[in-house]
Amino acid sequence: MHDKIAELREKRELSRQGGGKDKIARQHQQGKLSARERLELLLDEGSFEEVDVFVKHRSKDFGLEKQTFYGDGVVTGFGTIEGRPVAVYSQDFTVFGGSLSETHAEKICKIMNMAMKTGIPVIGLNDSGGARIQEGVVSLGGYADIFLLNTLASGVVPQISVVLGPCAGGAVYSPAITDFVFMVKNSSYMFVTGPNVVKTVTHEEVTFEDLGGAETHSVKSGVAHFAFDNEIETLMNVRHLMEYIPLNFKDKPLSKEFNKGTLKRDERLNYVIPEIANKPYDIKEVIKLLVDEEIFFEVHANYAENIVCGFARMGGMSIGIVANQPSVLAGVLDINASVKGARFVRFCDAFNIPLLVLEDVPGFLPGTDQEWNGIIRHGAKLLFAFCEATVPKITVITRKAYGGAYDVMNSKHIRGDFNFAWPSAEIAVMGPKGAVEIIFKREIAAADDPEAALNEKLEEYIKKFANPYTAAERGFIDDVIEPADTRIRLINAFQLLKTKKDKNPSKKHSNIPL
Ligand code: HXC
Repeated sequence: MHDKIAELREKRELSRQGGGKDKIARQHQQGKLSARERLELLLDEGSFEEVDVFVKHRSKDFGLEKQTFYGDGVVTGFGTIEGRPVAVYSQDFTVFGGSLSETHAEKICKIMNMAMKTGIPVIGLNDSGGARIQEGVVSLGGYADIFLLNTLASGVVPQISVVLGPCAGGAVYSPAITDFVFMVKNSSYMFVTGPNVVKTVTHEEVTFEDLGGAETHSVKSGVAHFAFDNEIETLMNVRHLMEYIPLNFKDKPLSKEFNKGTLKRDERLNYVIPEIANKPYDIKEVIKLLVDEEIFFEVHANYAENIVCGFARMGGMSIGIVANQPSVLAGVLDINASVKGARFVRFCDAFNIPLLVLEDVPGFLPGTDQEWNGIIRHGAKLLFAFCEATVPKITVITRKAYGGAYDVMNSKHIRGDFNFAWPSAEIAVMGPKGAVEIIFKREIAAADDPEAALNEKLEEYIKKFANPYTAAERGFIDDVIEPADTRIRLINAFQLLKTKKDKNPSKKHSNIPL
């Protein structure tokens, strides 16, 4: 027996070494951690239980039969984060560049299938040269098997992709299907075709980083939700994200203990809105004053900054926040903001995370660029996402709620559960000047003093609409609240909504305007 145990230990040790010490050293030289070091950081200490340690590839082409490694370039298994279970895979660049073979794909599919059966999130650490070239179509098939499972698991369990090295070709589509993509600045990249192909096809000269680095995807394309300076920070933030989300679609996010006795008015909120209606302010400052311990975990922080999305706690409960940002493009809704918001709302709804909407929006962004690129179609995504969502949904209109954007941002009409407004709210079809210039065009033109006439009509319009009371008279606003009381009112409302039940009509699936 002792011999057999010794043999087992030897084989395990071989598997642990991956592609060997030299290759691990090369990985370190590039500022990258090994597949196993990453898992140690991501998971609770000592919690990782590996499966398929002894799996080897089956390929006999191009001399591969002479090069086999236990584990075949990916470490897979189960562990815990703050005591809660997750399924994980971590590609090992030291073995065939982390490239995906038939067996490598089978290992990933195995833990994904288990994750779906047991209802636990999947976290994939990606660091791979893509399809294992020597295996040809077999490895492409392996990718397709993963894409299918990513799709089937979507909305069943949360899926998180962490890109920690190359991720090229069709391989990018697995992270793209998952719920959140993390990247590391200067050491990870994602693209459909690399700089060489780009040069051949479009004659553009572009670096790996510029084409598909973390900065590019977290600022320009929106492919990455998070970008951090190094791997340690990245993995710590994956752990942080997990605090806000449940294990699966039937589960609820963890609540932290909360002492209601500590709740009090916050006078600072009464001074947030500038006296001048067009002056910007930072909605993130408002968010900080509203949420527990002033902690806000922002998603897509550097992309479409005119809308702010992220997680926080209110009264101990995990909530998702969607807020217009008056300090960027006056908080207008454009294509990118609509898509960013819609995807976030759908994630929260899929995983039972209540939504808080902070609204200060002058409307949708006008112009040919937006119209020709489909603001109608993309804006409809945000509308659709809010309409469809059945989780508790609360809106606070802090200032402007104009036009279609009033309807879209979780209005009462599309099943907002509690719709509050601050006294500074302005709720109307359009802003005063634009409105008056249209509806009183003739009177103003015919007046002896057109400017005086314009100002008179403006005053009339502002009195009628630039306030929350017309909407409140109709019950479209449940209450006009003092900003200082907002945190108390929101926590009470979210507590009440804990038992909310709502559902959509039975169907195969909806057809969101993609
Ligand atoms: C087999 C691969 C490999 C691959 C890398 N290796 N990529 N082996 N299949 N796809 C091996 C290398 O031969 C090398 O082995 C080791 O991994 C490390 O690679 P290096 O090139 O030395 O590393 P580096 O200089 O850091 O460059 C990394 C790289 C480069 C940029 C990723 O390796 C590369 O361009 N690889 C090919 C990428 C690619 O085009 N893949 C196909 C994409 S299309 P040794 O033994 O020398 O250490 C695709 C389709 C998916 O994936 C479709 C899904 C639908």
